[in-house]
Amino acid sequence: MELSVKNLEYYYVDGDHNRYIFKDLNVTFKSGIFYTIVGESGSGKTTLLSLLGALDRPKGGDVLLDGKSIYEDMDEYRKTSLGFVFQNYNLIPYLNAVENIELALDIAKSKRSRKDILALLKTVGIDESKTKRVITRLSGGEVQRIALARAISANPPLILADEPTGNLDEDTSDRIVELFIKLAHRFDKCIIVVTHNKHIAKVSDIIYEVDTKNKNLREISKENL
Ligand SMILES: Nc1ncnc2c1ncn2[C@@H]1O[C@H](COP(=O)(O)OP(=O)(O)OP(=O)(O)O)[C@@H](O)[C@H]1O
Ligand SMILES: [Mg+2]
Repeated sequence: MELSVKNLEYYYVDGDHNRYIFKDLNVTFKSGIFYTIVGESGSGKTTLLSLLGALDRPKGGDVLLDGKSIYEDMDEYRKTSLGFVFQNYNLIPYLNAVENIELALDIAKSKRSRKDILALLKTVGIDESKTKRVITRLSGGEVQRIALARAISANPPLILADEPTGNLDEDTSDRIVELFIKLAHRFDKCIIVVTHNKHIAKVSDIIYEVDTKNKNLREISKENL
């Protein structure tokens, strides 16, 4: 799988002028690789993930999944190719962890046994006792991990995650990062994670930084982090 960004352009309309976030952005993301995207607050990381996740359309250019525009059938792309972990989680507050995942699987027209779902939740560190509580009665870090379990539950080839470890202690965060590495290297997923955490960026395969001056991404080495 290959996700190719071609001459992408994006701006927000601010009063009577357009404020550019990206101009002529070209980059390719491939399976088997764990990417991180870093950059200062407000630089455009969430904007980029929304475009890669077909939650929004670019003002110019295109994003191709194996040669086909993801904006042709945005719903289908989101359902079948993509797992998304939002910066604000977007779980259904009055459902529990298992129900949230079952709902996502339903939408993706995918199915997994309850046993499978519990095993998946265990992988992200959510014990069975917590899986029956509605989301509003869990901690921020627990909700974050459930959002991640939901994103990977339908086994999509591409996973986009916006600050997925922002609320986690170091040990839990390390476990999640190991999961990303495993998903990329062992299960051949394409993982794109936005993070402020240098340790996470350092263990990823390729690091991009949002270059606000040139409205672009630039690859940076671990030494320059
Ligand atoms: N809907 C919108 N309308 C206008 N401006 C917006 C909108 N959404 C975001 N912006 C602006 O675009 C810029 C990029 O926002 P974005 O959310 O992509 O930043 P970010 O890199 O994810 O920041 P953070 O690290 O704080 O999450 C910011 O200056 C933000 O204020
Ligand atoms: Mg953001």
